[in-house]
Amino acid sequence: MTEFAIGYIPKTIGEMPTTMKSVVIRNDREGAPADAMQIESMEIPEVGPNDVLVMVMAAGVNFNGVWAARGKPVSVIDPDVGFHIAGSDASGIVWKVGSAVTRWKVGDEVVLHCNQACRQCAACNGGDPLACRSQKIWGYETNWGSFSQFCKVQSQQLLKKPSHLSWEEAASYGLTYFTAYRMLIDRGEIGPGQNVLIWGASGGLGVFAVQLCKLVGANPICVVSRKDKAELCRNLGATDIIDRKDYDFSKGPSESRRFGKRIRELTGGEDPDIVFEHVGAYTFPTSVLVCRRFGKIVICGATTGFDLNFDVRYLWMRQKEIIGSHFANLNECERANLLVHQHKINPVVSEVFEFEQTAEAHERMSSNKHKGKMVIRVQAPRG
Ligand SMILES: NC(=O)c1ccc[n+]([C@@H]2O[C@H](COP(=O)([O-])OP(=O)(O)OC[C@H]3O[C@@H](n4cnc5c(N)ncnc54)[C@H](OP(=O)(O)O)[C@@H]3O)[C@@H](O)[C@H]2O)c1
Repeated sequence: MTEFAIGYIPKTIGEMPTTMKSVVIRNDREGAPADAMQIESMEIPEVGPNDVLVMVMAAGVNFNGVWAARGKPVSVIDPDVGFHIAGSDASGIVWKVGSAVTRWKVGDEVVLHCNQACRQCAACNGGDPLACRSQKIWGYETNWGSFSQFCKVQSQQLLKKPSHLSWEEAASYGLTYFTAYRMLIDRGEIGPGQNVLIWGASGGLGVFAVQLCKLVGANPICVVSRKDKAELCRNLGATDIIDRKDYDFSKGPSESRRFGKRIRELTGGEDPDIVFEHVGAYTFPTSVLVCRRFGKIVICGATTGFDLNFDVRYLWMRQKEIIGSHFANLNECERANLLVHQHKINPVVSEVFEFEQTAEAHERMSSNKHKGKMVIRVQAPRG
């Protein structure tokens, strides 16, 4: 067969079509996702000895798909290849394994994590692969991501799919949950009784940050911008919720102090031990100001801008730490995934889009209209 129809799963697992449908970004149309992301028939990539080809059942929507479509702050299209297939989250079926792969076999049902590394250096063997000089985020910094009928990954990117989850649920959590896990558990070292300020608490990272806080007995202080988003946080067990629309952080420290006062009202006089940051320019000065003395600001992103301008006196005189954090290593992904298998952390899928609507879903994310996680149905059966 030359190409499988979307939603078609052949009886023989491993049967190969000659081409695949993929959502493709090209240089001449980088910009808004609606223009940039178009479906094309593509060659199916060859797998190397340590690679795996996965039939994508469903793919999670992440902000890096928006960055990839925009081509900003950098274009992710490899000039030697000329196109980019985005997508850093997926659930699927192992379709083909490289000659050196022993841990997985054709037919295994998996979820994917998105960290790629050389697997040969000291960082990859006994250290942390995030310190590997070749470290890259699959589906953003590398090609053959999950908005496609098949994707190509390193075999170490595979994790066992929790059997109680649908394909769509299983595709929704890897990137943001594993990132939030590293930020809070290993980098922030949150503990019982601590107050954790979570920006964007109903967003892709936020819904998992809230659940992790509840799991360890920490108190999530959730910042949101709409009533339905506040409701989502309440459903996850949060009680301390602040509507950021009541504050104009561009006004400077007086507004940040007013925000800090509201936090103290909610917590009985305590400042946040940890601030969960990914908004960047718009919120960072406030994050540094409101964080407790000797507290930590853990940051993994900058949706509103990378150039951070903040009053550093609040940092040194009150001895706070800024901690950078980026995705997660396999060990963290496995530990985090176990909590999903144990029903202790749950996916929060707000909307499922069909494959043809991949660009539309990214437009929603780009304009902050979504909440929780959006998922693209690829080869999973349509309802
Ligand atoms: N380094 C990594 O490994 C890594 C991993 C995952 C994500 N990231 C980055 O982290 C960022 C967030 O990712 P995500 O998946 O959580 O995105 P998301 O689903 O869009 O959620 C982000 C949340 O940020 C809040 N927000 C947006 N604009 C804001 C503003 N001006 N002020 C305050 N809050 C604002 C929104 O909540 P409200 O409107 O309700 O406040 C939104 O729900 C992205 O930039 C992404 O690229 C990095």
